[in-house]
Amino acid sequence: MAAIEVNNLSRAYEYYRKEPGVLGSLKAFVHREKLYAHAVSDVSFSVEEGELVGFLGPNGAGKTTTLKMLSGILHPSGGEAKVLGFTPYKREKAYQKQFALVMGQKNQLVPDLPAMETFILNKEIYEISDNDFHKQSEELIELFDIRDILDIQVRKLSLGQRMKCELVAALLHQPKVLFLDEPTIGLDVVAQKNIRDFLKKYNEKKKITILITSHYMEDIKELCERVIIINKGKKIFDGKLKKLIEDYAPYKLIKVTFTGEGVEKYTVEAFGTIEEFSPYSCAIRVKREEAKQTAIRLLSSPLPVDDILIDEMKVDDVVRKIFSES
Ligand SMILES: Nc1ncnc2c1ncn2[C@@H]1O[C@H](COP(=O)(O)OP(=O)(O)OP(=O)(O)O)[C@@H](O)[C@H]1O
Ligand SMILES: [Mg+2]
Repeated sequence: MAAIEVNNLSRAYEYYRKEPGVLGSLKAFVHREKLYAHAVSDVSFSVEEGELVGFLGPNGAGKTTTLKMLSGILHPSGGEAKVLGFTPYKREKAYQKQFALVMGQKNQLVPDLPAMETFILNKEIYEISDNDFHKQSEELIELFDIRDILDIQVRKLSLGQRMKCELVAALLHQPKVLFLDEPTIGLDVVAQKNIRDFLKKYNEKKKITILITSHYMEDIKELCERVIIINKGKKIFDGKLKKLIEDYAPYKLIKVTFTGEGVEKYTVEAFGTIEEFSPYSCAIRVKREEAKQTAIRLLSSPLPVDDILIDEMKVDDVVRKIFSES
C-alpha cells in the first residue's frame, strides 16, 4: 500500500471582488460577487513508504494548500486523499499520531520557553511513554546536535538552531509520514546544508516517508530522486529528477579545457553558444542531440583540447524554464 494516495484532489478558495474606493465598498455591501481561486485542481499522485519526494512549483502553485489538505488542516473541495490509509481531514487521533507537518514559515515551538519544554509538551499531546520519550529525544538531540541549546528560550536562538528544534519537536512521536513546507527558508547556506544532512540521515535510518517543498534547488537535488511539479494548481510533472532534465532540458553543456597557451574566443564560437570562457577552459551550450557530434568535431579540430566533458544543464535552470513555459 502506498503511504500517500491522492486522487483528483482539488481545493478552491472563495473570495469576493470589491471595486476600489468608498463606492466600491458600498456596492460590495449590497451585492458581493463571489469568485473562486482554484488553488489545487485535480491533482493525483502516490508516494510509496520510505520515499523522499520533492514537491515543486512557483509561488502560488498550490503546494502549501496540498500539504494542508494532507495534514487535515484544510478540507478538499473535490477528490480525495489517503495517508497511511487514513482520510486526513477526518482528523482522527490515530492519524495525528502518525504524521507531522513542519512549516519553515510557522513555529510550533513556544517562543518564550526553551525547546525542551515544548518537547515535554509534545510528549503529553502525543501520549509518548517515558521510555520512548527518553529514547527518541536522546537520539534526536544527538543527531541534530542541539544539546547545548535545549535550555535557551527559543526566541533567543538563531533561525537555523530554531529549525533544528522544530524538527526534533515534530519527530519525537516517530511519525511515519513527514510533510516539510520550506524547512530551509531564510537559512544561510551552511545551516541549509545542515538541515539537509539531518533529513537525509533520518530518512535513511527510519525509512520515514517525506514530502518536501523548497524553493532551493540544492535541497531537492541532494534529497530527492523523484519530484512532483505543480503549477497553477495542476500537476505538470511526476518522475525522476534525472528524467526531468532529460525531458525538459533541450541543451547540454560541453566543458572543454585547453593545453598550453590556450585559445582565442572566436575559435570556439563556431561550436555553439559560449556560456563561460577563458583561454584555458570554456563551456559551450549545444542542442542535446548535437552534443556528441560537437564533441567529436572539437576533438578532431586543430584546437589544443586537453579534456572534454558533456554535462547536463543545471537543475535550477531547467526548473525555471519549465515554470516560465507552463
Ligand atoms: N486562505 C486563502 N484564501 C484565498 N486564497 C488563498 C488562500 N491561501 C492560498 N490561497 C491562494 O491559493 C493559491 C495557492 O497557494 P499556496 O499557498 O498553496 O501556494 P504555494 O505553492 O505554497 O506557494 P509558495 O511557494 O509561495 O508558498 C494562491 O493563488 C493563493 O493566493
Ligand atoms: Mg507555500
